[in-house]
Amino acid sequence: MKKIFIDCDTGVDDSMAILFALLRPDIEVVGITTSAGNVSAKQGAENTLRILKLAGAEGRVPVCIGAERPIIGECAEFPEFIHGKNGIGNVELPPADQKPEDMDACDFLYQTACRHEGELTLITLGRMTNIALSLRKYPDLYKKINSVVSMGGAIYAPGNISPVAEANIGGDPEAADLVVQAPWNLTMVGLDVTLKTILRKADLDQAAAGCREEYRKILAFLQQEMKWYMRGARMQNWMRDCCPLHDPLAMIAAVDPSIMSIQKRITRIECKGEYCRGMVVTDLREHPITGRYVGHCMEVDAARALNTLFAVFQ
Ligand code: BDR
Ligand code: CA
Repeated sequence: MKKIFIDCDTGVDDSMAILFALLRPDIEVVGITTSAGNVSAKQGAENTLRILKLAGAEGRVPVCIGAERPIIGECAEFPEFIHGKNGIGNVELPPADQKPEDMDACDFLYQTACRHEGELTLITLGRMTNIALSLRKYPDLYKKINSVVSMGGAIYAPGNISPVAEANIGGDPEAADLVVQAPWNLTMVGLDVTLKTILRKADLDQAAAGCREEYRKILAFLQQEMKWYMRGARMQNWMRDCCPLHDPLAMIAAVDPSIMSIQKRITRIECKGEYCRGMVVTDLREHPITGRYVGHCMEVDAARALNTLFAVFQ
């Protein structure tokens, strides 16, 4: 059983990634923290609790509200045109009875990591603010975690919030730069692979038509929220009735890294500049800048990734 801790900003694709993890029989989700990104951290936690209820997992996974702003500055506007006003494509899920944990998200992450020392895979699907703040507060956090898989960054692909920055990294570059400098086993699943893994409405409809009876409500929710998200992908990427698979692909990579080809490169995050703030900088020179090796997913077997995603519903 793979034990995972998720840090996210529960929008549309985060919710799909969380549902995938909850439905996989070989994954145990031991905790979830949220940060501002697609929506506020508070709204992200609310969405997460409702999704747990939808998956029949209410009360089984503690959820904690984290950072409402990046390390420097304030939150700019939320990307409503991609994730909707409420973050889950404006779909109204029934409220849950479970409440968020009444504690600091850094303490929650650290205590959970200590309880499962050496066993946890930390999956980050949003800005890295909570992780960076946790590393500041608990410098030995990296020792407690087995590995980290993060949706974020772009090496050769263009950015999605600037010419070079991907949203999770560009939304809090200072946090990401702290996280890439921690001496842990970190793999980044960035736009180089997520933009090549295209989820089509037709595939989702087919999965819904052939899904297990007990998952009908989940598929109906995914179909509904994806309507809004695919509208956003049309505006952002000129895509028609399809979208890139961001956060679920990171979850899939955590389960089966053989779906990706991964290059380890010395990595830092650009924290300055008008055009390059939030860029993932990797140094291939013989005498590189000071930094640690981070794994970057460069190629993906997209068909296999999509099969892995849809298999959980059959
Ligand atoms: C990332 O940004 C957010 O909008 C998505 O949830 C995903 O984590 C893609 O750049
Ligand atoms: Ca996300």
